[in-house]
Amino acid sequence: MQYLSKEEVVDRFRHYRFIKNQLLEIIGGWVQFLPEIEIKIQYGRQLHHDALHSDLLKQRLNYLGARIDSRQMAYPGKKFMSYLEDVWHSADHTVIKLYTVDVLIRSLLVDVIREHLDRTSVPEDKASEDILRRIVSDDYARISWANSAITELDPQGEILNESIKERLRAKIAESGGFMGSNEPGTLFKKEFPYSKHPVRPSSWKIIEDAGSYSEKNNSFDNIEGKRRLLHDLIDGELCSIERLGKMLAEFPDLPWEMKTQLAKQAWDESRHAEAQIRRLKEFGGKPGQYPVNYWGWEVDVNRPDPLERLAISNMTFESEACKHMSNWIEMARATGDEESARLIEFILMDEVTHVQIGKRWVEELTKGDLEHYNRVLSYPEFVLQTLRPKGIKMDDLASN
Ligand SMILES: [Fe+2]
Ligand SMILES: [Fe+2]
Repeated sequence: MQYLSKEEVVDRFRHYRFIKNQLLEIIGGWVQFLPEIEIKIQYGRQLHHDALHSDLLKQRLNYLGARIDSRQMAYPGKKFMSYLEDVWHSADHTVIKLYTVDVLIRSLLVDVIREHLDRTSVPEDKASEDILRRIVSDDYARISWANSAITELDPQGEILNESIKERLRAKIAESGGFMGSNEPGTLFKKEFPYSKHPVRPSSWKIIEDAGSYSEKNNSFDNIEGKRRLLHDLIDGELCSIERLGKMLAEFPDLPWEMKTQLAKQAWDESRHAEAQIRRLKEFGGKPGQYPVNYWGWEVDVNRPDPLERLAISNMTFESEACKHMSNWIEMARATGDEESARLIEFILMDEVTHVQIGKRWVEELTKGDLEHYNRVLSYPEFVLQTLRPKGIKMDDLASN
């Protein structure tokens, strides 16, 4: 077998990066539509992994001489592009999504990379080998996770039966693969209808009218208060994974570093949700036991300007949550609940960073455009003054 030349390695890395970025966008866009909380949480982590892989590929491309953005990704041919578009529009049920993207597309990528590894010469290209081994190892883990999740969600194969599997496998086989052709395809846009709220399990009670939402007078100094506050916080973490995923899908042209930070944030929020669910269960509660409301979601994810979204969620809601968390830590400690205090201390540090991420990108992307900067920063004020439902005080965003 012949070793790959430097040019061939560059060409392949560009195509792997395309797939990783598509996984990031497709999964990101889907998170809000999944009813299963555990899958949402896993997808938050996956967003970070796929962004990280893409980033490693990008760094190596820089070393190999492909230094500008436009040379760091290559589009596959038309057939594969329309295959992806079809996947985006037609994978309706969670198990179909998992099978198509996390089993079939990831397996396709892993197969191509394994063949690449066989043709990698070391030590001269050891840097590429290390990156590819990491991707293969992480993606194998994701494929095996997806297969178990499918078995758990659809044990009898009622949704994903053998004939559907066969049809999905045939589609990807006919796509011509992602390694390019003479006629590169154009990328489809991932668009979303106006969203009132993200999808939750059918057992959850969603209060559509925020004005009648009266679940908020709780304190972190008693068990019932802790259950309710943690419950709200968990739902907020899920909304964050979902809104960040949606942003990655909707705005592929945001600066790369910003996208990696948003993907990392999605993983932070996943870990927060997991840790809080664990604590909620220790207090005898469970996700979905209290009603939830999504006015904060609606005023964020439908804005056409991604910076306005960061201004309302990262810079305002998350900053407000930080204040409340500091208060909960004190209150937990004062009442002898060291475990909650310890847990929230970790989460608070991440949240402070999320506020800074929002601030940084709003400032950087409005540099030299004072009108835009002012418009972005006045959005949260407008929301709080005019769109905030009567029943919801600013304090209620994470009240204690
Ligand atoms: Fe969080
Ligand atoms: Fe956060």
